[in-house]
Amino acid sequence: MKPSRNLLLGLCSMLALGFLYYSSGRISLRGWSHKSLYDKQGFLVKLESNLPLELLYKYDNLSEGACKPGFAAAKMTAIYPKFNKLAPIFLDPNYKRFSKIGDYSPPFGVKSHERIIDILLAATKKYGLGEELDSLSCKTCIIVGNGGILVNKSLGQRIDEFDVVIRLNEAPVKGFEKDVGSKTTMRITYPEGAIQRMERYEAQSLFVLSAFKAQDFNWLRHMVFNQRLIPGGKHSTDGFWKSVAKQVPREPSDMRILNPYFIQEASFKLIGLPHNNGQMGRGNIPTLGAVAITMALHNCDEVSVVGFGYNMSTPYAPLHYYEKIRMSAIKESWTHNISKEKEFLMKLVRAGVIQDMTNGICSAGC
Ligand SMILES: *[C@@H]1O[C@H](CO)[C@@H](O)[C@H](O)[C@H]1NC(C)=O
Ligand SMILES: *[C@@H]1O[C@H](CO)[C@@H](O)[C@H](O)[C@H]1NC(C)=O
Ligand SMILES: *[C@@H]1O[C@H](CO)[C@@H](O)[C@H](O)[C@H]1NC(C)=O
Ligand SMILES: *[C@@H]1O[C@H](CO)[C@@H](O)[C@H](O)[C@H]1NC(C)=O
Repeated sequence: MKPSRNLLLGLCSMLALGFLYYSSGRISLRGWSHKSLYDKQGFLVKLESNLPLELLYKYDNLSEGACKPGFAAAKMTAIYPKFNKLAPIFLDPNYKRFSKIGDYSPPFGVKSHERIIDILLAATKKYGLGEELDSLSCKTCIIVGNGGILVNKSLGQRIDEFDVVIRLNEAPVKGFEKDVGSKTTMRITYPEGAIQRMERYEAQSLFVLSAFKAQDFNWLRHMVFNQRLIPGGKHSTDGFWKSVAKQVPREPSDMRILNPYFIQEASFKLIGLPHNNGQMGRGNIPTLGAVAITMALHNCDEVSVVGFGYNMSTPYAPLHYYEKIRMSAIKESWTHNISKEKEFLMKLVRAGVIQDMTNGICSAGC
C-alpha cells in the first residue's frame, strides 16, 4: 500500500511540476512573442489585419461605395489595440471632464488657459459640425493636405463628394477647384497659418483654431470678439513667429477650438515623439496634417487623405499646390519630425485605416 501511494504522490508531483514547467514555458513564450508583436508605439508589427467578423457581415449588405459605419475605428483598433474612440472634435463647455487635456499646457492641453477658453466657448455657443452632419449615422471625411502632389490630378470632384472636407491653414480653394475641390467643411489653422486676405475665406465653413502656443487662445479671443490686434500695442502680436491675420470674417458661432487631445495623442502615443515633460520641445510637435488625421480617426467612419507626402523622385515639383516653392527647398524642421511622422502615416495606409488618394505617403513604397 505504502510504496504505491508514494509512487502515486511522486507521479502527482511530477505531473504538477511538469504542468508548471509547461505552463511557465508557455507564459514566457507568450510574453516573448507578445513583445515582438507590437512596436514601441503599440502598433502591430505585422499590419495585415482584418475587420471584426460582425462588421464584415454588416458591410456585406451595403451597396457598393456606401459609407461603412465604424470602419476607420475598427481598422485602427485592429492594428493599435490601445485606441479608444471617444474624443470629440471640438472643445465644448464640459471639456474639463477630459482629464488628459487638463494636465498639459498648450499645445498638448489646456492647463492654465481654462478661463479664456470658458470665455471663448460662452461666445461661440456652438460646439459641433452643425445639425446636418452631426445627425449622420455614417460620415466620410477627407483631409486635404497642401502638397504639390495634388497638382494636375483633377481630384476636385471626388474630394467634394465627401461628407466632411477638412482643409489646413491658408491653402486656397479659389482658382484650384479642379484639383482640390470647392467644398470646405472646416479649416483648421493656427494664427500664423490663418488666411490673411479676407476675400479668400469661403462663406460656408467652420474656422477651427488648433492652439499650439499660449498666445494662440488670446489671438482667437480677438478674432471672436472682433477686436483689432495692434502690433506692439496693448494687444501685441509679439510671440508669433510671423505676421498673423488681424481679422477673421466669420461669426463667433462658426468658430471652434480643436480638442488638443489630438495633438497630445499624435505626438506622444501614435508617432512616439519625445515627451519632454509635456512641454513643447525639439521635434515633438506633430504637423497640422497629422493632427487632423488623428482627429478624423476618432470622429469619422471612413478617412481619406490627399496632398500628403512628397514624390521624392520629382525634387523640382512644387512643394505646395498653390505656390512655386520647390520640394528641394524642404529644410530640416526644429519643431516637427517629418520622418517619424511619415512612419506613422505609412502604418495607417499600409493597414488600410486611411485611403491615400494621391499615394504620396507611400511614394517610396510601403
Ligand atoms: C442583409 O440583407 C438581407 C436581405 O435583405 C437580410 O435578410 C439580412 O438580415 C441582412 N443582414 C444584415 C447583417 O443586415
Ligand atoms: C500641370 O499642367 C499644366 C498644364 O498642362 C502644366 O503647365 C504644369 O507644368 C503641370 N504642373 C505639374 C506640377 O505637373
Ligand atoms: C526624429 O526622430 C529620430 C528617431 O527618434 C531622431 O533620430 C531624430 O533626431 C529626430 N529628428 C528631429 C528633428 O527631432
Ligand atoms: C512620382 O513621379 C514620377 C516621375 O514623374 C512618376 O512616374 C510617379 O508616378 C510619381 N509617383 C506618384 C505616387 O505620384
